Amino acid sequence: MAIEIIDLKTGKRKEKEIKTIEWDSRSATKDSYEHFMIKEILEQPIAIRKSLSQDKEKLMKMAIGILRSRQVIITACGSSRYAALIGRYLFSKIGGKFCDVIISSEFGYFKDSIDKNTLVIAVSQSGETADVLEGLKEAKKNGAEIYSIVNVVDSTIARMSDEVLYLNCGPEIGVAATKSFLSQIIIFYILAFAMNNKTDYAKKQLTNIAELIENALPYTIEITKKIAKETKDQNDFFYIGRGINFAVASEGALKLKELSYIHAEGMPAGELKHGTIALIEDKTPVVAINPDDHTYAETLSNAEETKARGAVIIGISDNESEVYDYHIKIEKVSKIFYPIACVIPEQLLAYFLAVERGKNPDKPRNLAKSVTVK
Ligand code: AGP
Repeated sequence: MAIEIIDLKTGKRKEKEIKTIEWDSRSATKDSYEHFMIKEILEQPIAIRKSLSQDKEKLMKMAIGILRSRQVIITACGSSRYAALIGRYLFSKIGGKFCDVIISSEFGYFKDSIDKNTLVIAVSQSGETADVLEGLKEAKKNGAEIYSIVNVVDSTIARMSDEVLYLNCGPEIGVAATKSFLSQIIIFYILAFAMNNKTDYAKKQLTNIAELIENALPYTIEITKKIAKETKDQNDFFYIGRGINFAVASEGALKLKELSYIHAEGMPAGELKHGTIALIEDKTPVVAINPDDHTYAETLSNAEETKARGAVIIGISDNESEVYDYHIKIEKVSKIFYPIACVIPEQLLAYFLAVERGKNPDKPRNLAKSVTVK
């Protein structure tokens, strides 16, 4: 098909580069699903496989760029920021590279520390979030290099960047980030593993995990639906986790808030005793992100402390425990990959809680898919 672009003022033909976007138009329909959100949650195993398809040389180039930069700052908003916090942990654990994560709407307040030796990594599904764009403008002004991890091809953030990695997970229609969040994490895994030349290992592991979580979907749907039915009248949920699981907990709380309008907080499990534990009452649900990694025993003990004050514990874990009033069993995977196994259960829990409370998860009140105002 030939396309001509004509400038209406001058009547002259304009040359424009043609870019092919590999998105299947069926991704923008609900098929037989009740909501886009559930469709997008369930297609995550496919999204993982697609996100893994990245150019190896580019990955290596970016990994080296990150390792060589004097300071690395990741900036993002909402769910993308929680993906960034997971990324930050992975960079440190796998690549031995410390970096900071700054909420984009706060980025400008740190501009005095951004210079030409800074690498800023923007994370954004839409690639159009105003706060992120604003931060990047400041960073560019100060001479920083810009990398980005985005979903929407050729979006403004992608165009502003020196290097881009696309999520390749297809269009996300539901207002809540689901498959884009998981895909962002996948990109962080392969970037972090590229830092020590182990991309092939990471891809193999992640491909296996995609299959494991795919097989677990019927069980995960059943158990989260049951928990949602039995907890739907609660007003506050607390999500706890340590280390990388703290970021996973924060994302779980955000999903619940935006979809079901239940107040929820995600926090490092060790912080409870510094104040929030005062809010635990009889039947308050506490979701413990508690896979069998090095945080397991301490998180379990923090969950137990809340249980002693009346909390109902929802454990997301591969280990059984009598501390859990409800247990959402996840797959056993290599320790560093546990966040991938924990994300779908918390998305499904938020989805079913919204549905149980009669809310439309695709159209949460007051929210837009892409926040293009400051
Ligand atoms: C997530 O469920 C939200 N709808 C929201 O927090 C979102 O992640 C945030 O607005 C950032 O959007 P972006 O990834 O398109 O930049």
